[in-house]
Amino acid sequence: MAERIPIASDHAGFELKERLRTALMAAGFDVDDIGTHGTASTDYPDYAHPLAQQVSDGRVQRGVLLCGTGLGMSYTANRYPGVRAAVAWTPDVAELARKHNDANVLVLPARFVSDEDALAILHRWLDTAFEGGRHEGRVAKIERDEQADDASAGAEG
Ligand code: RB5
Repeated sequence: MAERIPIASDHAGFELKERLRTALMAAGFDVDDIGTHGTASTDYPDYAHPLAQQVSDGRVQRGVLLCGTGLGMSYTANRYPGVRAAVAWTPDVAELARKHNDANVLVLPARFVSDEDALAILHRWLDTAFEGGRHEGRVAKIERDEQADDASAGAEG
């Protein structure tokens, strides 16, 4: 069965999203287009939240977000446990985001990459595996244990 992959953008990323959506379908993915569906002004969190929720829940393994700089989408998606959303502006950054950081959400800065570069970034991210090894423990340390944080704050008081 084809891997389901969600993709979403705000208005700034809409046109590039359409190109990446086509490329993902051509690559055999079952693409879930969360929106936006036109160039009218929108708010990026409205699209980042539902995509990040799916990745965080484990309903999908990975997803793709786009906005003007990539920053608003990444800030929002990275608030979800287990989500590692990486802004990538070159294929090499995308590769390292997979190899070292196990990035499960690719975020593209649509106003700062060409269509050609965006496609190369997407394919490099899709095709690169997490290296594990020394990076395993580092990635594990990203997730905070909030209960432990609360307990230690109580102990200090
Ligand atoms: C929209 O103008 C722009 O602010 C948005 O796409 C994004 O860059 C925010 O981080």
